Amino acid sequence: MIKKGKLTILLILLFTVVYGQNKIPVYGDNTKPLKERVEDALSRMTLEEKIAIIHAQSKFCSPGVARLGIPELWMTDGPHGIRPEVLWDEWEQAGWTNDSCFAFPALTCLAATWDEEMSLLYGVSIGEEARYREKDVLLGPGVNIYRSPLNGRNFEYLGEDPYLSSKMVVPYIKGVQQNGVATCVKHFALNNQETDRFTVNVNVDDRALYEIYLPAFKAAVQEGGTWAIMGSYNKYRGQYGCHNQYLLIDILRKEWGFEGTVISDWGGTHDTRQAVMNGLDMEFGTWTNGLDDGKSNAYDNYFLARPYLDLISSGEMSTTELDDKVRHVLRLNFLTAMNKEKPFGAMVSENHILAGRTIAEEGIVLLKNKGDLLPVNLDNAKVIAVIGENAIKKMTVGGGSSSLKAKYEVSPLEGLINRVGSKAKIIYARGYVGTTGGTYNGVDSGQDLSDERSESELISEACEKAKNADYVIFIGGLNKCEHQDSESADRFGLELPYNQDKLISELAKVNKNLVVVNISGNAISMPWLNEVSAVVQGWYMGSEAGNALAAVLVGDVNPSGKLPFTFPEKLIDNSAHSAGEFPGSDGQVTYSEGIYVGYRWHEKQNIKPLFSFGHGLSYTQFKYGMLKSDKKEMTSSDKITFTIDITNSGSRSGAEIVQLYISDPESYLPRPVKELKGFKKVKLLPGETKSVSFTIDKPALSFFDPDKHQWVAEPGEYAALVGASSSDIKSQLGFLLK
Ligand code: BGC
Repeated sequence: MIKKGKLTILLILLFTVVYGQNKIPVYGDNTKPLKERVEDALSRMTLEEKIAIIHAQSKFCSPGVARLGIPELWMTDGPHGIRPEVLWDEWEQAGWTNDSCFAFPALTCLAATWDEEMSLLYGVSIGEEARYREKDVLLGPGVNIYRSPLNGRNFEYLGEDPYLSSKMVVPYIKGVQQNGVATCVKHFALNNQETDRFTVNVNVDDRALYEIYLPAFKAAVQEGGTWAIMGSYNKYRGQYGCHNQYLLIDILRKEWGFEGTVISDWGGTHDTRQAVMNGLDMEFGTWTNGLDDGKSNAYDNYFLARPYLDLISSGEMSTTELDDKVRHVLRLNFLTAMNKEKPFGAMVSENHILAGRTIAEEGIVLLKNKGDLLPVNLDNAKVIAVIGENAIKKMTVGGGSSSLKAKYEVSPLEGLINRVGSKAKIIYARGYVGTTGGTYNGVDSGQDLSDERSESELISEACEKAKNADYVIFIGGLNKCEHQDSESADRFGLELPYNQDKLISELAKVNKNLVVVNISGNAISMPWLNEVSAVVQGWYMGSEAGNALAAVLVGDVNPSGKLPFTFPEKLIDNSAHSAGEFPGSDGQVTYSEGIYVGYRWHEKQNIKPLFSFGHGLSYTQFKYGMLKSDKKEMTSSDKITFTIDITNSGSRSGAEIVQLYISDPESYLPRPVKELKGFKKVKLLPGETKSVSFTIDKPALSFFDPDKHQWVAEPGEYAALVGASSSDIKSQLGFLLK
């Protein structure tokens, strides 16, 4: 028998459940299709509310609709860690004490792993950090192509090759977004320099646009399914990237079917009508109507704020475009802030530390190793001399919007001391003085590296310490200060700054066991290359930088990274510079090299690079067998699989990144000598052999015909080339496309 009182309670509960469920508006019900939820929310919003959600209300957030319970959207840089909190209306720090992040390696380092699994790990991990900090949109990753080694932001991107960057960007996006955090892939498009970045108009032919500069964005949209994309500052065909009809409407929406949200770069919007008509959904960071930088409440005057409302109210513009923008913003909100299934996230977890360290270790590239000087043999070494400012300089602060407030950062010197312990004595000398401070938007690295000594005093101290050491490890390079791998300014030249070239040559004179570790996100010239025994390319490797570098230097980790861009010997050997087309003049830059970017140019012109695209050595050796295929010819709807055996013929375990290039020797339009169309990382024990296979289809053979505005694969002879780098082809095989 149920007592009367209990029955009443049961009835109330039942009523609450049934009635309560009915009360959930469609837009708040995540069991309903996304489109239905969007339409429902849209139908309940006033004109003013619609206008409000398409522009910022602070430096990094846009309003929701409080009345309807639709939350704000919070953005964060990206792409190497979660930016510290800034003040509501200023770039300066908010002074929070709980916003220190784990600093992941820069994207250049990720690209150098040539490993899609590393990219997924990166995405999942940084996505968790964003989630924990309650961010909805991560402003990254950046996929602008490495056109010139002087571009200050190359370190934030994925290298010079459209295939490599396309493959690497997709898992990053999936990893981030599985956390209910959107990626905002940037900067779309043609933002390949910092000089005049707010104004320069890029002239590029359609073929180069489609073959070189767009593929990574297209992969981000179609394969990665990015929920957002950021317009670029520069112009293309005379229109700003943030409201560019060709890029945002014709290509992104119409050709690629993008359903996500287009967000402006900060201050990249310049005109209400163009922003309305040419595909911009959300405006951020603009100072308008003569307001000074930093003045509050500029937001109502944003191009997509009151000026837009006025145009609608006066009947000059309809609400058709507005409703579309609001749909895109609501979609983003349902996938992120209103996503009820998102996980909790985590900050600086053991997993993130391990992920960051592994990615750094896998991305380090051994460029040269004469006489197998590396790895450092700790059984024999008594004294190791470490020289150079980058051995001690903190690198997570600086470089522009990717600057971080890291929970910790292990410097290379600390990493070596941690690892070497009492096995050898480590002595240190500065050797040169570069940039002595380390502050960005109120985050201070806490280092004061000022040093009054003269160049000759510093060099003679370094040589004195280096002279009798068993190993000399010079750790220098660039440093994320202005003009040294940094947003807003390009580099001045290819050479190392602060007269490091001279120091390296002097060190080489006193000790032949000299290892040069270059920390940078860009190629540098190496006039001393023949004087030194070993060269290692490190990157900005974040919190675990020093530990990862030490692990590679002493051989705990066998290096397996490969260069994601070419190192030219001289600046003029790079195609953008060869034609004098960097950074342009009178507001124009013309990519007259067309599709011949990076190794495509070096191979066309037969210019030997200092280090080729795809180059990277190991402490073991790999033997390549003969390339075989499952057939000799294919039709355009067919595929061919190529297989090659790789053997570890040395005595250490190691990993090789096997690269497949396709060559089309005869074509009605000129084609590069060869182009990357596949890569795989294979881990091998000493003596072990594994087969590596690549399957290719028609798109791998195609080029973009600008007259037909179509991808074309011409019937005829092709060749598949497999090798250890673009200039080290081990085996090749012809085949026919019928
Ligand atoms: C940069 C973007 C960045 C944004 C917000 C801009 O200046 O170009 O990459 O995401 O600022 O910090």
